[in-house]
Amino acid sequence: MQAPLCITRAFCVALLLMTAACEPVPSPQQTQTAMTVVKESFGTTSNGEAVDLYTLTNANGIEVQAINLGAIITALRTPDKNGQFDDIALGFETLDEYLTSNRPYLGAIVGRYGNRIGKAMFELDGETYSLAANNGPNHLHGGVKGFDKVVWQGEATENGVAFTYVSADGEEGYPGTLMARVTYTLTDQNELIVDYHATTDKATPVNLTQHSYFNLAGAGTSDILGHEVTLNASRFTPVDATMIPTGELRDVTGTPFDFRQLMTIGARIGQDEEQLNFGGGYDHNYVLDGGDDALALAARVHEPTTGRVLEVYTTEPGVQFYTGNFLDGSITGKQGRAYEYRYGFCLETQHFPDSPNKPDFPTTILRPGETYETRTVFTFSVQR
Ligand code: GLA
Repeated sequence: MQAPLCITRAFCVALLLMTAACEPVPSPQQTQTAMTVVKESFGTTSNGEAVDLYTLTNANGIEVQAINLGAIITALRTPDKNGQFDDIALGFETLDEYLTSNRPYLGAIVGRYGNRIGKAMFELDGETYSLAANNGPNHLHGGVKGFDKVVWQGEATENGVAFTYVSADGEEGYPGTLMARVTYTLTDQNELIVDYHATTDKATPVNLTQHSYFNLAGAGTSDILGHEVTLNASRFTPVDATMIPTGELRDVTGTPFDFRQLMTIGARIGQDEEQLNFGGGYDHNYVLDGGDDALALAARVHEPTTGRVLEVYTTEPGVQFYTGNFLDGSITGKQGRAYEYRYGFCLETQHFPDSPNKPDFPTTILRPGETYETRTVFTFSVQR
């Protein structure tokens, strides 16, 4: 409907009385002209802690939803090559499902230490620290109640949301009170910027990451084997049978781990190769080429049927490429869709697993007076 033009104030008032509308009615394309951030209740935990849902929408209609339980990204709606929007992040619709389901870190921030610490132990400044062994003999993703399961404090920002969590000294066995802050910022350039910040009052290992499972064809619609991946990494960190890095930085040349040239996930995942067998597929840390702290392209993923492209940029030295090998259809997510074997992939930007026990790996120790600052950027686009 075309709104009437107002010539003079009196005319406008008269028209207003007649039409009850004097502002041009925006066309559907004009309704979203700037970023919006909307906060609403998502429910309450059994301890009475309020959980809120933050919906970030940019000028192009891209939507990111996140809750302050685990700083979880619950939904990510992006257009395909025909402009059709779909949710490309695995997750649930209700708080109850996040609280009661066995959910393998879907969409969450993982901490205090992302990925594994061997034998659930490390030594720091002459002291030995024991952590929960929640993955065979090893410690995984911060322990029994890691940062993915705690309630953070949320605060809407101009174009995103900031989540803060204070992890007590001794929590899950880690030394030092850690103040952690993660912000999600959505831009009109279709970037989701994830900024990580932490300080501590005692030396402690810190390795925070984002554990979203993506399926660029739409969450719960298919496996991810046809996705085409490029990884900017000439080396990876091979693991032992318990998934702890051996310490070697292995050249990917001539192995199924070489994604320097575009390759589908499924092309070599079924090969009878020791590292693939250990991981049940890809579940390995790649050593990113570049090697300084500057933001650099780590990965690019293209889904040919929808044309969706995800790019991941990071200041981190590594990325855990995980192909949903532990998904088995036992979780039913949004829209009643079961998350079957390999229905999602993760690109967890990080420092290398087991760094506290690997003096040759880049350090993950944060000391009092220092500031932990890392950034990862996810960009969404299409390729026709
Ligand atoms: C990471 C680990 C995997 C697995 C998944 C979640 O990627 O490396 O082994 O724990 O998280 O299931």
